[in-house]
Amino acid sequence: MTASYSSLKSQIIAAIESASDLAALESVRVAELGKKSKLSEAMASLGKMTPDERKSAGAELNKVKEEINAAFESRKNTLQNVAMMQKLQSETIDITLPAPPIARGKIHPITQVIDEVTAIFAAQGFIVAEGPDIDTQDNNFTALNIPESHPARQMHDTFYLNAKDEKGLDLLLRTHTSTVQIRTMTKQKPPLRILAPGRTFRSDSDMTHTPMFHQIEGFVVDESTHFGHLKGCLIEFVRAFFEISDVPTRFRPSFFPFTEPSAEMDIGCSRKDGGLKIGAGDSWLEILGCGMIHPKVLENCGIDSQKYQGFAFGMGVERLAMLKYGIPDLRSFFGGDARWLDHYGFSACDVPSLAGGLSR
Ligand code: DAH
Repeated sequence: MTASYSSLKSQIIAAIESASDLAALESVRVAELGKKSKLSEAMASLGKMTPDERKSAGAELNKVKEEINAAFESRKNTLQNVAMMQKLQSETIDITLPAPPIARGKIHPITQVIDEVTAIFAAQGFIVAEGPDIDTQDNNFTALNIPESHPARQMHDTFYLNAKDEKGLDLLLRTHTSTVQIRTMTKQKPPLRILAPGRTFRSDSDMTHTPMFHQIEGFVVDESTHFGHLKGCLIEFVRAFFEISDVPTRFRPSFFPFTEPSAEMDIGCSRKDGGLKIGAGDSWLEILGCGMIHPKVLENCGIDSQKYQGFAFGMGVERLAMLKYGIPDLRSFFGGDARWLDHYGFSACDVPSLAGGLSR
């Protein structure tokens, strides 16, 4: 081989071998193999040779080029492998480390309890209905057999709005979910089995009252519904809800304008050292109001009270949540404190169901 070709080759291969990374190798490629390189010059000089000279020099130069290319490819391979190893090393994760904490949302106890109660009554054939927060005096009072002069209207500490309904009466924020009884019964024909959870409002604020709170209303209207059905349905409910199969219950006579007879349902409990335990014990705890729907209420909704009868019940969601989950302070429900929700909230993945367990 011509001495100059041989030294050119060793020089270029040495440059290739000394490239320490892919960027350096690329610089070598541009400098040593590019258009302005010595190698290109040597190729160009072939044109000035005699045909015989060109034949042998051309073959030699091609061999030099091949060797250089092979050295280049091999160096490139090595450097690519090094780069890959470095990348893998910098990206290793220690899979034995605990997972970093991620911010998880929680289901509010109010939502949880509404979902639990809904699951229980859905299994008894109830269908969920909802009504608006803003309603008429008719739906909230009059049709429910609470006439204008009735003391219950004052008792409810109603929020009235500066807006009137079709009859020219002030609209209000509903004081109970019983409005949904009227709304449903005026639109749908019996048989009816309805559960109506929702927000309710009363102008009342202290340790045990918040101006906004939640109720769940339920009612059944059919031709032969009687008080025994009411009892069976509600006893089944409290057992499923508190997840205590033998929780004692009792029905105490009471008064509501929209039911006759009316009752309040108590469940058994025991109180010791300031603590409260639900289940068989020496004490009773009021849990909900109920009764047979007053014939006047059925008639107010255009339902024949000679043919149909029904029962209804209403309960406070916050109270149920406090009792079941040992939440001591009513006002904390609406404090918007993320730490409180983190503590008392529920996983979004645990949807309450009778089959899967109500509360896990
Ligand atoms: N609406 C009543 C309240 O807010 C609760 C209630 C009691 C609802 C008896 C009913 C019922 O449907 O039958 O205090």
